[in-house]
Amino acid sequence: MRNFINISDISSKELRSIIEEAKSRKLNRKNLNKSAPDEDKPFDGRSMAMIFEKPSTRTRMSFDIAAKQLGGSSITLNPDGIHYGKGDETLKDTAKVLTEYVDIVMLRTSLHKNLEEFGKHLKIPIINGLSDEGHPCQIMSDILTFEESKGSIQNKTISWLGDGNNNMSNSLIEAAGKFGFQLKIGCPKKYTPNKKILNWAKKNKVDLLVTKDPKEAVKDSDCVMTDKWVSMNDKVNKKLKKKTLKGYQVNKKLMQLAKSDAIFMHCLPVGRGEEVTDEVIDGKQSVVWRQALNRVHAQKSIINWCLN
Ligand code: CP
Ligand code: NVA
Repeated sequence: MRNFINISDISSKELRSIIEEAKSRKLNRKNLNKSAPDEDKPFDGRSMAMIFEKPSTRTRMSFDIAAKQLGGSSITLNPDGIHYGKGDETLKDTAKVLTEYVDIVMLRTSLHKNLEEFGKHLKIPIINGLSDEGHPCQIMSDILTFEESKGSIQNKTISWLGDGNNNMSNSLIEAAGKFGFQLKIGCPKKYTPNKKILNWAKKNKVDLLVTKDPKEAVKDSDCVMTDKWVSMNDKVNKKLKKKTLKGYQVNKKLMQLAKSDAIFMHCLPVGRGEEVTDEVIDGKQSVVWRQALNRVHAQKSIINWCLN
């Protein structure tokens, strides 16, 4: 039994095996209907509980379909509708009860430490479906999407523009270390990666460049990535943050500095006209819809990895 909380917790070899399983399962079910089970049904007779402290479209849908494709099922729990560390039931007791009912838990939380706290009392695996500190499932499926377009991500160059200190950029830095790609982050000083992740990057010899110059960040890159300038539950002056990040918008002019065959990625939901122009996100280089689909395929292998 294993938890999937941070990319940094898992070895490169195991992360690679998760990606490879996703590729082969995706290939093997080419002609099946969207929710039809894979032939081997590894999750047969099993189920997953999903708890969302914050809104979600993709994570909710893709985990549900992933469970179905593995031959099992899922149930979504709204923290407001259950005894989730509130009233007269502790988080510990909720965890013990879920252990009796389901085989795995997926949690989207505002507080990363909730994952560890909840995980400590579960006797079944827990998956991080996004926290304030990381979004590892998204980054794993983005590696899958990148490799489908461009081959092995090792030694390739990925650019990240905008907020350099959010859940996505943290997990991307961890992935750069584990999968061996160069990462160039273009962000203003105020939104530079935090000390904890920079120390991790240094210790793990991540090929990382953090620059204030968006052009330098994008130059000769294989992939340009960005994210919403204001994340869910981001307690900032939104107007001011957007103004500070204005120069980091991914537009056609900036995309032209990347390699001519570079791809554009965004985890979605998108702030159209803010972090990216319509022209880029709806353009030929954009792979954002396949990114959404690949959440299903990457998460199937993450579930399997946790249970094996
Ligand atoms: N990318 C992503 O996690 O989307 P949702 O917030 O819709 O789940
Ligand atoms: N950084 C974004 C990612 C959304 C999938 C957020 O946390 O809102």
